[in-house]
Amino acid sequence: MRPSPIGPRAIVEKKKRYLIPCMYHFYRDPPQIVAGRGVRVRDSLGREYLDLYSGVSVHALGHCHPELVEAITRQAATLQHTTTIYLTQPIVDLAEALAGVLPGAIERTFFCASGSEANEGAALLAMLHTGRRRFLALQNSLHGRTKLTMNLTGLAMWRTDPYPSGDVEHVPVPHCSACPLGRSYDTCSLACVAAVEQALDRQAGSAELPAAMFVEPIQGNGGIVVPPADYLPALRAVLHRHGVLLVADEVQTGLGRTGRWFCADRWSVVPDIVTGGKALGGGTPVGYFSTTAEIAASYTRPGASTFGGNPVTATAGLTVLKVLRREGLVERAEETGAWLKGRLAELQGRQGLLREVRGEGLMVGAELGSRGELTPAQVTDEALERLKDAGVLLGKTGVDRNVLTFMPPLIVERADLEKAVNVLENVLASI
Ligand SMILES: Cc1ncc(COP(=O)(O)O)c(C=O)c1O
Repeated sequence: MRPSPIGPRAIVEKKKRYLIPCMYHFYRDPPQIVAGRGVRVRDSLGREYLDLYSGVSVHALGHCHPELVEAITRQAATLQHTTTIYLTQPIVDLAEALAGVLPGAIERTFFCASGSEANEGAALLAMLHTGRRRFLALQNSLHGRTKLTMNLTGLAMWRTDPYPSGDVEHVPVPHCSACPLGRSYDTCSLACVAAVEQALDRQAGSAELPAAMFVEPIQGNGGIVVPPADYLPALRAVLHRHGVLLVADEVQTGLGRTGRWFCADRWSVVPDIVTGGKALGGGTPVGYFSTTAEIAASYTRPGASTFGGNPVTATAGLTVLKVLRREGLVERAEETGAWLKGRLAELQGRQGLLREVRGEGLMVGAELGSRGELTPAQVTDEALERLKDAGVLLGKTGVDRNVLTFMPPLIVERADLEKAVNVLENVLASI
């Protein structure tokens, strides 16, 4: 028999006593989540919630998808772990299946256990391939929480390192409605790309020239920031003129979330290295970086990952890919996401608190403003709390922590999103 849940208060007490205090959680009055099925989770008191954040862009197939549960369980009962020093089949089958959906000639993959590790590995690969040691990244980006990836991260909130590396330079984010260069898209001729070009021109021929630039094709934690359509193609051209690799961090955007297998596909951009994680594992810990045969050939010294390509996670990955493909969930994300954005735009017309709606596919952000004495961040926290009390879980992103974020399972039905938008309308009216 399963033990009874200890309840949220006891969990918070144990967290305080036994976890490192940096592990924060959402909500003034947080629920203890005990079960999940599809787009719904249940708490210890039996209350049900629509989970429209998917464990931060993880549950593409929803919670406990029966086929995924069956595949993981069968593999766990057969062979759980050997590490990569022994031959197993799921890892190579998964690499082959991924090659079938990765952009362009990207077909070689290294598996690890998290998105941070994937970016760390991509950085190493870029250094080995170019013989350079520096990196460019965008302001307000998030690339991970290891030493180097925290330094690649531009978001102040996630830069905890007291001794930041001098090897990373942050360049202007292509956020047109809040342009850091104070320009307007109609007249700027992509001033943010020009800024990168000027920096690279200055460094040309010196040891300062970077190995790679890391870019989230749509910034997730930065607040669902979608660049203009010509940004990524123009950036890639500028980087390549200086032999700088483009690393697309698709940890959050990858595997169908934005209505394409990989978000860079939306602008027909083939990066040099793609990094991923989250959704591929269907809830089991996974990370990967993938590249062309030519770039991969630069990494021949021994590399390993104890858990990378583990039989259980690789089987989960194969099942996730199979179901995404069979059910047309990538195309569905595009259609359902466009519909959701439309509904939120209508709401914006009626509700002044909603400042901007942005995103692609089922990665959608709704930026909130201030009300009375409450700052946008306080309004957002209040909205999240009341949404949760009404049975809807959304995320929160943005430099100012004021972007309500929808990243539902790709299987979500319009009726559930409709319900969430209606609840949101009532909640915003009540603040
Ligand atoms: C874009 C992006 N890159 C990297 C990471 C780090 O991934 P992980 O938490 O699996 O290490 C995240 C995590 O949220 C992310 O959103």
